Amino acid sequence: MTFDFDRVIDRRGTHAAKYDMMAARTGVTAPDGIPMWVADMEFAAPEPVRARLARAIEHGVLGYYGDDAGWRASIVDWMGARHGWAVDPDWITPSAGVCAALGIAAQAFAEPGEGVVIFPPVYHMFAAMIRFAGRRPVECPLVETQGRYAMDVDRLADTLPADARVVFLCSPHNPGGTVWRPDELRALAAFCAERGLILVSDEVWHDLVFDGARHTPTAIAAPEIADRLITCAAPSKTFNLAGGQTAEVIIADADLRRRYRAAANATHGASCNLFGMLAAEAAYREGAPWLGALLPYLARNRDLFAAGVAEAIPGARAMALDATYLAWVDFAGTGLSADEIAARITQRARIGVNAGPSFGPGGETRARFNLACPRATVEEAVSRLADAFADLRG
Ligand SMILES: Cc1ncc(COP(=O)(O)O)c(C=O)c1O
Repeated sequence: MTFDFDRVIDRRGTHAAKYDMMAARTGVTAPDGIPMWVADMEFAAPEPVRARLARAIEHGVLGYYGDDAGWRASIVDWMGARHGWAVDPDWITPSAGVCAALGIAAQAFAEPGEGVVIFPPVYHMFAAMIRFAGRRPVECPLVETQGRYAMDVDRLADTLPADARVVFLCSPHNPGGTVWRPDELRALAAFCAERGLILVSDEVWHDLVFDGARHTPTAIAAPEIADRLITCAAPSKTFNLAGGQTAEVIIADADLRRRYRAAANATHGASCNLFGMLAAEAAYREGAPWLGALLPYLARNRDLFAAGVAEAIPGARAMALDATYLAWVDFAGTGLSADEIAARITQRARIGVNAGPSFGPGGETRARFNLACPRATVEEAVSRLADAFADLRG
């Protein structure tokens, strides 16, 4: 089977947030702006997914979705085959996306005003969902050593407020592309057990891991904390289905699951989107060949972009990504101010990015570039960055 990831698909005016919100969200107003911000891909979803949705549309009646046994089984099989994790179908609760699940978990396991720990720089919606839920983000900044992030659990032990109840972990990590090692996950899990914290492991990026790295589900690394572990996953990043807003929340412990579901039910937060559920099941059942072709394509984009940035912008460096398609570029070595860096990227190069500071402490001199696009787009972005920072090359 061949897959054409080079095909350019015009998404303007299709309610694609990445295009139709680019000016409002990134400040890029140029007609030839390149959107490299929000985390969806420029690629059409796998053909079996589109065929399944087309069948539903053709049938024509778009009523309530029911009987999710097939969807559950597809998740059980995917987790077993891809991640070596034996999930019981009863452990799974549907969610209108991962962010919804994060908000529900914050409400279920912390009281208003209480603390939820995050490790910045991290996906900006972690802090946002905690605040939307009326809880308080507690930051434990990541430490960068030799180009890789690490969690500082010792520091967390010294600084943890008495009212912290929950930890949000991003595994693999957005925006650093870090795949946590089993010993790192175990150390965090042990800390959660010692301090009575609920650990929410957001593993939405688990399938987008490159050759040479291996994702370990927190549930596998630390089975001893099953009574305090909530795993969020989804096919949305893997197969580019984010608009379907459908995720799976996996909780092995019956009491923890009951508490999560009680909070979810308060807002009908475990209800199902027909299109999202059909797409998810088709993707998990039939999407593996597409994913197999996608990963090397993304890896090549990653390598091209990192090399291009290093050559074009003295003092800039893309973090080595083991996972995700999100390049996390540090411009600190250019000596330019954060405003100047942002202006050069968005106004001179006309590239819409996620600004580093939105990820919290540690993001000040950085920007996140989404590389899940045709290769020609990556090449064009590198060439524009080379022009925008040409003066630095003397
Ligand atoms: C770590 C992480 N969690 C969750 C999400 C969003 O999930 P959803 O669209 O299912 O709410 C993203 C999207 O980029 C993400 O990076």
